[in-house]
Amino acid sequence: MELTIHTTNTSYPVILMQGALQSISKVLPTDYDQLVVFADQHVWTLHGEEFREQLDVDFNLHLVRSGESTKTLVSYEQSMTFLLENNVSRKSVILAFGGGAIGDFAGFVAATYMRGIPFIQIPTTILAHDSAVGGKTGINHSLGKNMIGAFHQPLGVLYDPKFLATLPDSEVRSGFSEVIKHAFLSDAVWANELQSVTSITKLRSLDWQSELAKGIQVKAKIVEQDEKETSVRKYLNLGHTYGHALEALAGFGRLKHGEAVAIGLVMTFYLSGLPELASNWFKQLSKLGYPVDAVRQFPIEEILTYIKKDKKNSGSDIQFVLLHDIGEPYVAIVHEEAIRMAHDRLVNLVEEERT
Ligand SMILES: NC(=O)c1ccc[n+]([C@@H]2O[C@H](COP(=O)([O-])OP(=O)(O)OC[C@H]3O[C@@H](n4cnc5c(N)ncnc54)[C@H](O)[C@@H]3O)[C@@H](O)[C@H]2O)c1
Ligand SMILES: [Zn+2]
Repeated sequence: MELTIHTTNTSYPVILMQGALQSISKVLPTDYDQLVVFADQHVWTLHGEEFREQLDVDFNLHLVRSGESTKTLVSYEQSMTFLLENNVSRKSVILAFGGGAIGDFAGFVAATYMRGIPFIQIPTTILAHDSAVGGKTGINHSLGKNMIGAFHQPLGVLYDPKFLATLPDSEVRSGFSEVIKHAFLSDAVWANELQSVTSITKLRSLDWQSELAKGIQVKAKIVEQDEKETSVRKYLNLGHTYGHALEALAGFGRLKHGEAVAIGLVMTFYLSGLPELASNWFKQLSKLGYPVDAVRQFPIEEILTYIKKDKKNSGSDIQFVLLHDIGEPYVAIVHEEAIRMAHDRLVNLVEEERT
């Protein structure tokens, strides 16, 4: 299956199928001088052999730490050194092989090395259906996640769902949140279908190729209208304002991004005046084993402090993406008091669940 993402200046393919890496010639420039594969070291241990089998071109391998721990200034400098020592030029191409963290990291390296060289995304997580498309790249600073970054679109995305088989349950849950987020933003029928998935076994056995394609299409449509997030791209932050705060307070990497977003969605539904959706979604999360207990770990004051300094808020206004209904998002200014109340309701749900 092949999708096309249109941006202001260019367009690029997402090749989503078994054996996708074999199609690399469709996205590589004919005159490139070398390929550098940035691979998540854990993913490389699991799938390096398959990668080599599918990709029958020469490349230089650069293993990086797995997951979020690679999105640091220290790794950034090390990678720049690697590229310089290996005479990587503006005609070279970087391949990002791993989850969203490696995509963000390698994408940012590509965006800034010699003022920008091309790169290709080869995602290996469900969540990365979200991050691989749209051109946002970046790394973390100790004062905030994704605070250093650039917009840099890939030459293409080669996505083989076969790699997903080795994901731990927690990563399947994390990725599922972003998929259903795309459903909540766009399509009640699809959202209902996904809401009927209440066991991890059933979740793992979804037809991921089709789910990822639908998710990518929703994201692509929004990003095509607003590449630099001045308007509708904000909708993609559904569930993220509160979710990010939990993720940050827990310590990045402890609570998975999508797991935190899932909890953020419950909050969003309360703030949207959709209590039934909030409690149904919460029940589904509990059945699927999401770490919903996290909301009891942090006082609302700490959560609010974090939300206020989140880069998406200007001044003291707290912006949230809310839903009139499934498929009808809008941006609203929410008062602190409403957030406190919704947080209390969420804590109550968790406590009821435990008794
Ligand atoms: N740029 C964007 O628009 C955007 C959007 C959403 C999220 N993100 C970023 O994406 C990152 C999260 O992405 P993620 O959830 O893919 O996390 P990740 O890249 O950290 O991967 C999660 C973990 O799964 C492991 N892993 C990856 N693929 C695997 C596989 N096939 N089998 C077994 N283990 C595997 C990794 O080693 C890692 O430990 C965050 O840094 C977030 O900020 C970016
Ligand atoms: Zn997200």
